[in-house]
Amino acid sequence: MIASPTPATIARAAATLRDGGVVAFPTETVYGLGADATNATAVARIFEIKARPRFDPLIVHVADLAAWHSLVGGIPAAAHRLAQRFWPGPLTIVLPKSGAIPDLVTAGLPNVAVRMPDHSVALDLIRAAGRPLAAPSANPFGYISPTTAAHVEDLIGSHVALVLDGGPCRVGLESTVVSFADEGPTLLRPGGIALEDIEAVIGAVDVPATGARPLAPGQLPRHYAPRTPLVLIGSPRDVAPAARSRAALLACAPQPDVDGFAQVVILTADGDLRQAAVNLFAAMRTLDGAGHARIYAVAIDAHGLGRAIMDRLRRAAAM
Ligand code: TXA
Ligand code: MG
Repeated sequence: MIASPTPATIARAAATLRDGGVVAFPTETVYGLGADATNATAVARIFEIKARPRFDPLIVHVADLAAWHSLVGGIPAAAHRLAQRFWPGPLTIVLPKSGAIPDLVTAGLPNVAVRMPDHSVALDLIRAAGRPLAAPSANPFGYISPTTAAHVEDLIGSHVALVLDGGPCRVGLESTVVSFADEGPTLLRPGGIALEDIEAVIGAVDVPATGARPLAPGQLPRHYAPRTPLVLIGSPRDVAPAARSRAALLACAPQPDVDGFAQVVILTADGDLRQAAVNLFAAMRTLDGAGHARIYAVAIDAHGLGRAIMDRLRRAAAM
């Protein structure tokens, strides 16, 4: 059931979480499917609802730095600087875990991923529950992440007691994941905060070559995927006229030569990547539901937010 967030519905959601239930809630990136991160039985429900493999660890959400301290073994200065600069916000930091977090949350890894979401409903809910919340994106495993409460209701509504509606997500892509668990800082997943902005705060971050993955557990080649085959192209000109009538075109910015496609979705009028990120997943869902034989997506430069957008498009295109 979708509920607008009021003190009463947030209190009800918090009580459900304390009782070991699961609740869907908004964050600035995508909607999350939350459970008490300290309760392994509650967390097991998340894996069931998502049909998520148990080797894929969950991000733990906190509302204050004290909670973060209690979940990790120790915090290097650089990790602290990132939290100061980007929290609350779309950055997840991986560090060796303390005993507070059950192994199921971290898929048996000795490290835990933590972030402080930048959404008042999420923060109010964490505070009201009085627990850190384990929350993956609120979609069946491998499918496109939901950026509205209606998407969540469509995808998994029958399995959750409550979907708190915080409106459309302001960022639209999942958080950037940076690990300090090994030697130097390492980018495990590009996301809502650009790598360049992180490097401006802590210096060089190791970026494993694609193909050297999956080094972030759960970062499988095929992910964020519509059911309709999605193909990456350099330009609409790469698609022959005869192939266009049963295909859709998806692009971040206006394109030349788009005649003949069954549907054309342009994410922004001016190529602003923030706006493209906000609209990307909803557009993929819409196109996926339209019955096209194929979705052609125009590639962009992998700089700034373009890195995360291209990461999601590549995974959606992987066979
Ligand atoms: O923006 C987001 O991060 C959203 C919202 C709901 O916060 N959450 C999200 O969670 O995207 P999820 O489960 O869809 O993706 C979590 C990913 C895992 O697949 C894995 O790559 C990484 O975060 N991760 C989580 N725990 C980790 C750990 N202990 N070590 C390494 N990577 C981890
Ligand atoms: Mg996900």
